[in-house]
Amino acid sequence: MSLLTIDNIHSYYGHIHALKGISLEVNQGEIVCLIGSNGAGKSTALRTISGLMHPKVGRIAFDGNDISKMDAHEIVANGMVHVPEGRGIFPTLTVKENLEMGAFTLTDRHVIEERMEHGFSLFPRLKERIDQFGGTLSGGEQQMLAIARGLMLDPKLLMLDEPSMGLAPILVELIFDIVRKLNEQGTTILLVEQNALMALSIAHRGYVLQTGEITISDSAEKLRNDKAVQKAYLGMS
Ligand SMILES: Nc1ncnc2c1ncn2[C@@H]1O[C@H](COP(=O)(O)OP(=O)(O)O)[C@@H](O)[C@H]1O
Ligand SMILES: [Mg+2]
Repeated sequence: MSLLTIDNIHSYYGHIHALKGISLEVNQGEIVCLIGSNGAGKSTALRTISGLMHPKVGRIAFDGNDISKMDAHEIVANGMVHVPEGRGIFPTLTVKENLEMGAFTLTDRHVIEERMEHGFSLFPRLKERIDQFGGTLSGGEQQMLAIARGLMLDPKLLMLDEPSMGLAPILVELIFDIVRKLNEQGTTILLVEQNALMALSIAHRGYVLQTGEITISDSAEKLRNDKAVQKAYLGMS
């Protein structure tokens, strides 16, 4: 069943035509990745889906509703969480306060505590740093916090923008393991990555975005074995 359906969206920054009619689909239970070089439009796609910007043309349906014209906060309330590139945690708030901010639509203290514990079970390191300021965490810990904060709303769809960016290989592995685990626990995931090899190793399907257009879409396995994809994105010749 399709959870997210994007039909021919065009997005602009002033006169810059950043998304030139992209269509894609994420089904319930899937990990779908969107790969592509720097500047291809991956972040713009996530920003447009999550309502931080609006498509000039096209339609976005999420969980049965047309969200193309909805504001970001309404879309979050419908069950979609976007963990942005650069993580966007609050540096002057503690780990605990950051997580509480993530739960801003919730009022039940019990549910908030439960979700926080779930985050700590995925990332025990965050629990050890519960009273530390966000800005003093390492890059990997900030990424963990950004994901744990996103999970506070128990989203139907979690969108991650380059979670591996700037992280040491061992942390990249850890983050990707958690993403896979979350998916096994039932969260549907749209993953944006420049690290195509890692993304395709955990995704079910993938789309390749090139200067604002989807050029290839297939199962992750087929993409991993596609000569053009290997050459352009997997560093193979
Ligand atoms: N805030 C912005 N203002 C103007 N142009 C932007 C802005 N953000 C991105 N762009 C342009 O839109 C295109 C897509 O960018 P982006 O979505 O950030 O790519 P990616 O995430 O794939 O690296 C690029 O040409 C980029 O320069
Ligand atoms: Mg980006």
